[in-house]
Amino acid sequence: MVTGADPITTRELQPLIGAEIAADAGALLSGRHAKDIRALLEQRSVLVFPRVGFDDEQQIAFTQTLGVQAYENNGVAGDDGERQAIFKVSLDARINPIGDYFRTSFFWHLDGTMHEVPILASILSARYLPSEGAATEFCNTYAAYDALPTSDKEMLEGLRVVHANWALQRFLEPEPSYDAFRAARSVPSRTQPLVWTHRSGRKSLVVGATAAYVVGMEPPESTDLLVRLRDWATQPRFVYRHDWQLGDVVMWDNTGTLHRALPYAADSGRLLHRTMLQGEEPVA
Ligand SMILES: [Fe+2]
Repeated sequence: MVTGADPITTRELQPLIGAEIAADAGALLSGRHAKDIRALLEQRSVLVFPRVGFDDEQQIAFTQTLGVQAYENNGVAGDDGERQAIFKVSLDARINPIGDYFRTSFFWHLDGTMHEVPILASILSARYLPSEGAATEFCNTYAAYDALPTSDKEMLEGLRVVHANWALQRFLEPEPSYDAFRAARSVPSRTQPLVWTHRSGRKSLVVGATAAYVVGMEPPESTDLLVRLRDWATQPRFVYRHDWQLGDVVMWDNTGTLHRALPYAADSGRLLHRTMLQGEEPVA
């Protein structure tokens, strides 16, 4: 892709997911490439901007060149109860009071399944990294849907899934106290189509760790289907794994992917700063 006086170059990272964009901070902040970046996001699901080194102001400005910034963070309020323009993704309670909650990010999910309109995209920048590990993985749920046999596509037609915080929390605590379970259950759940038919006409799978059960199915069949589809969608052919370098900026289309962090220790210092773009369509 070459645009205008300050061309940016791109290369594909995996056959079915990911593109790297070589551009300096100035070119990205100019907004001149915003349309091309949005188009590439739609095509490649994950965009990597190596070692751009944004500070918070630049990250916010870049985000706002691409759409309407979302200030809510997974429905989780910040430490002062206010919505934040920059969210600190860290497991360390000294940096992020709800750091422990972020251990749920070790499990494949998309953000905002319990909202009517999930966020469109997240943008992460690497501010501090441990010496090893702590990669982030993404899978393309458009490609995963497309590759399903026709019999599966027909079977999935019309199925709906309840997405619930209590289901997500079971990944962290399989045997919660009743009080803890009640607290998790008090967060409103939401029923979403299993297959998202986007306005573009493309279809993607909406599965992952928030998916509690398929409406109208017996528990064994429901769990069987949800596990099978998550396992299918996260096959290596649909996955891009990002091994972070300091200053990297990574952006993904939340509406056509699942993501997860590979486990790291709360005291490792790993710190990513996140901004988000408001969703533009409900799951339909
Ligand atoms: Fe997430």
